[in-house]
Amino acid sequence: MILEQIATGGCQSYLVGCSDSSSAALIDPEISQIDHYLALAARDGLRIRYLIDTHTHADHFSATRQLARQLAVPVLMYRTSAAPFVDMRIGDGEMVMLGRLRLQVMHTPGHTSDSMCLRIEDSVFTGDTLLIGGTGRTDLPSGDPEALYDSLFQRLLKLEPKVRVFPAHDYKGRQSSTIGDEIASNPRLQKRDRAAFVDMMRELNLSMPRHVTEALRTNMSGGKSVAQLLAEAASRVPFMSLPELKARVEAADEDLIVLDVREREAYESGHVPGARLLPRGQLELRVNQELPDPTRRILTCCELGQVSTLAAATLREMGFPHVVALDGGMKAWRVAAYPLNSGAEP
Ligand SMILES: [Fe+2]
Repeated sequence: MILEQIATGGCQSYLVGCSDSSSAALIDPEISQIDHYLALAARDGLRIRYLIDTHTHADHFSATRQLARQLAVPVLMYRTSAAPFVDMRIGDGEMVMLGRLRLQVMHTPGHTSDSMCLRIEDSVFTGDTLLIGGTGRTDLPSGDPEALYDSLFQRLLKLEPKVRVFPAHDYKGRQSSTIGDEIASNPRLQKRDRAAFVDMMRELNLSMPRHVTEALRTNMSGGKSVAQLLAEAASRVPFMSLPELKARVEAADEDLIVLDVREREAYESGHVPGARLLPRGQLELRVNQELPDPTRRILTCCELGQVSTLAAATLREMGFPHVVALDGGMKAWRVAAYPLNSGAEP
């Protein structure tokens, strides 16, 4: 078995492959690491055959959908998962083949109702059911402390003590543990009475993970996060630095149209000298009258540099091949004490 563990903050992803057949599964991939996973698979001579989420994640952005499109391989989740884009729904006790490896599913509800653990040889990928020195929380949508108790004490902890545990999270840089070590020293597993365990889980009072609303929305629908939309737009446009734009403004570069895509009020309180106003919300509606010549060089700017990136990508998509976005925004321009005009331009 070839195993790569990839940490993204506290989230752990795993690339697991069969050394004989070179086929591999990617478990709990995170959206910002796509190139990293593909590079590791190439380095190890592995071909990714399955993309697996151990459960509906509320705290990170899953890469399964995007990778499935890119690689033309199936997304695999527990059979009751809410995500509509799952290609292979799998049930308790079922297996998928990775060359000579058997990847066996154990349904372990509790952290979420669709949580599963994946047993491969002497390892178990526990998702957020069992962590090193902890367990998954049960206070997020579809969480259930009683179900978690049963999943842990009736199922997972009955595996042989030597089985290696690879969790979906670790915040202390640890890589793995064993079932035996967790039974002996995991503080949450010392409450072996069902009622005491359930009370403990109900009283944890944890703060909500960051981005929980957006993570659940995108992971359950296959839609895109705001960061993803911005990254995709940024990959399609060139940028110009603040000092470069300042130099061009001072040289009175007639060739370049500076297009300020903020609202009128922000524009009038201070903009790049000579900039034209075309708010992002009106871009598509007014583009034909405001920018009749698609061969012109255009630079978009906004307050922080994000909306202008989206605007530049939209303009390129509409057939303006010479659009660039400002690297940074008017906030940074003001901090740099670069020249400003206020009110309307003549
Ligand atoms: Fe989770």
